[in-house]
Amino acid sequence: MGSFNRAENSNGGDKGKSERGGGVILSIESSCDDSAVAVTEIATKKLLFHRKISQESIHSNYGGVVPELASRLHAVYLPQLIEKCRPFFNQIEGIAVTNTPGLAVTLQEGVIVAQALGESLKVPLIPVNHLVGHIYSLFIEKEEEKPLLILLVSGGHTKLLWFEGVEKVCEISTTLDDSLGEAFDKVAKMLGLGYPGGPVIEKLAEKGSIDIGLPIPLKGKETLNFSFSGLKNAVRLAIQSGKYRPEDIAYSFQRSAIAHIVEKLEKAILIHSPPAVGIVGGASANLHLRKELKKLAEIYQFKLLSPPLEWCSDNGAMIGRAGIELF
Ligand code: KG4
Ligand code: ZN
Repeated sequence: MGSFNRAENSNGGDKGKSERGGGVILSIESSCDDSAVAVTEIATKKLLFHRKISQESIHSNYGGVVPELASRLHAVYLPQLIEKCRPFFNQIEGIAVTNTPGLAVTLQEGVIVAQALGESLKVPLIPVNHLVGHIYSLFIEKEEEKPLLILLVSGGHTKLLWFEGVEKVCEISTTLDDSLGEAFDKVAKMLGLGYPGGPVIEKLAEKGSIDIGLPIPLKGKETLNFSFSGLKNAVRLAIQSGKYRPEDIAYSFQRSAIAHIVEKLEKAILIHSPPAVGIVGGASANLHLRKELKKLAEIYQFKLLSPPLEWCSDNGAMIGRAGIELF
């Protein structure tokens, strides 16, 4: 792929690639509010550098991500992060960049930076689908078995996917309205807890103990799809009634939302009999979810794969790992 000429690519007197280790992929992620960059060695999949600047504390002032502001911040942060990768410039063989799905204005910022760097280093761009990137958070610095039934739970998506390889991903089901992470974010907002809602609701739920009787979405229904808007409205009514403590609302919401996920995943397992199931995306950091899925794995005897907490939310390493597969 591409016409990478190492002589043309020499970098201010740097040693040649052969003296400095193998070729690398530089990867860029900017689909939402995390500016992230990583460098991964192609042959060994070793992660040589990764850093991210989260914009969460800035957006939390507005109760959610403000796309135009996120875009402007990426334009400042991404060049700073790439500058830190300068020692690897001579080894770069391709630039992996998230190009879809996500916020159009923030994706564009990453692609512009990638194009500029790609042109100056004369290396090709490798466009990476963000959701495929999340799947490859399971493969950072390692290989895993395939096929996998994937439960993808992020801020933008909630999906069951059948994964056989980087270009072989089939959607089994998806959410009809909000995603799991979005539901956590909206409930946190209703309770006045700020953004992002997942970690704060999870923490508050630990203090709750009373089940206030919230519905489990689509319970007993044939569909493998997800839905969170009814549950969200039930939470709104519970808050408005003034009858319940916030910690019990958080506890009950988390239980219902995750019972819903578990019911649909169980149905999918019965249909597809996967040898292994992987959970990925920002909300896969939720420990109650992990605990419930572990129980399911024991009952149905499948291998459960989950990324280390560090790789659940958006990062550059997963984009680089997927980029290597596409390269
Ligand atoms: O994957 P991600 O970093 O970004 C997207 O691709 O959307 O996911 C962010 C989402 C947010 O909605 C956040 O509230 C949720 O993941 N999240 C959680 C937890 N940590 C993050 N949701 C539930 N429990 C958590 N512990
Ligand atoms: Zn994501």
